[in-house]
Amino acid sequence: MLPSELLHTLQYIARFYDQRKVGDLGALGFRRSTDLERLLACINRMVQMQWLVPGKSVFFDMGCADGRVNLLLGYLMKYSVGVELDEWTLDEYAPLRAHLENNLEKEPLLPLPDNISLFNGDAMDRSLHSTIKEETGIGLEDFDFFYTYLTMQEEFAELIVQRAKKDAIFMVYGLEKILPRWDGMTLLTEQPLEGILALYRKI
Ligand SMILES: C[S@@+](CC[C@H](N)C(=O)[O-])C[C@H]1O[C@@H](n2cnc3c(N)ncnc32)[C@H](O)[C@@H]1O
Repeated sequence: MLPSELLHTLQYIARFYDQRKVGDLGALGFRRSTDLERLLACINRMVQMQWLVPGKSVFFDMGCADGRVNLLLGYLMKYSVGVELDEWTLDEYAPLRAHLENNLEKEPLLPLPDNISLFNGDAMDRSLHSTIKEETGIGLEDFDFFYTYLTMQEEFAELIVQRAKKDAIFMVYGLEKILPRWDGMTLLTEQPLEGILALYRKI
């Protein structure tokens, strides 16, 4: 179980972002936001199953949009990295974070994590992986968790199989009944967690 102060902070943050979801309606469907309350329920399950030990891992959101998943996961990771193709989308990270920080000051909750680095570019791009390593000390081979909200799951799976370390976990959000299988990874969740998040472990 997560400590109650941490859990309350995560719940507050999830609600803050879930009131500001993008792409559920209108033309921005390609950048739909993760439902953070639902993701938090999945994270609780991952902690119970000991797939995630808070504070010990490094996380990579491949297509991070406004960085909301990075921010939530920043509380549970040693380091949280995101890459986003669209600069204008990534630009929403700072104002949302500032707004949240302002709100958090009025609440008896934990401060925002300062272990988050977000980059503009293509998550498949090798030169960007080198830049991330230069700036954070974290190479693709060091990440424990990779995340995508359906985006480019085939390509990302292949990249993880080729370049990530053994036992790295690929989190694919947005799946329902039919779960893809990839050579080089085992499916940890026969049913998606909370009906939406499938986990794969690199062999
Ligand atoms: C469905 S949104 C998910 C955003 C965020 N991860 C979340 O769950 O709230 C996917 C995002 O991935 C970005 N994207 C698509 N292909 C990408 C790539 N190759 N590298 C980096 N970002 C990419 C899109 O611009 C979009 O913002």
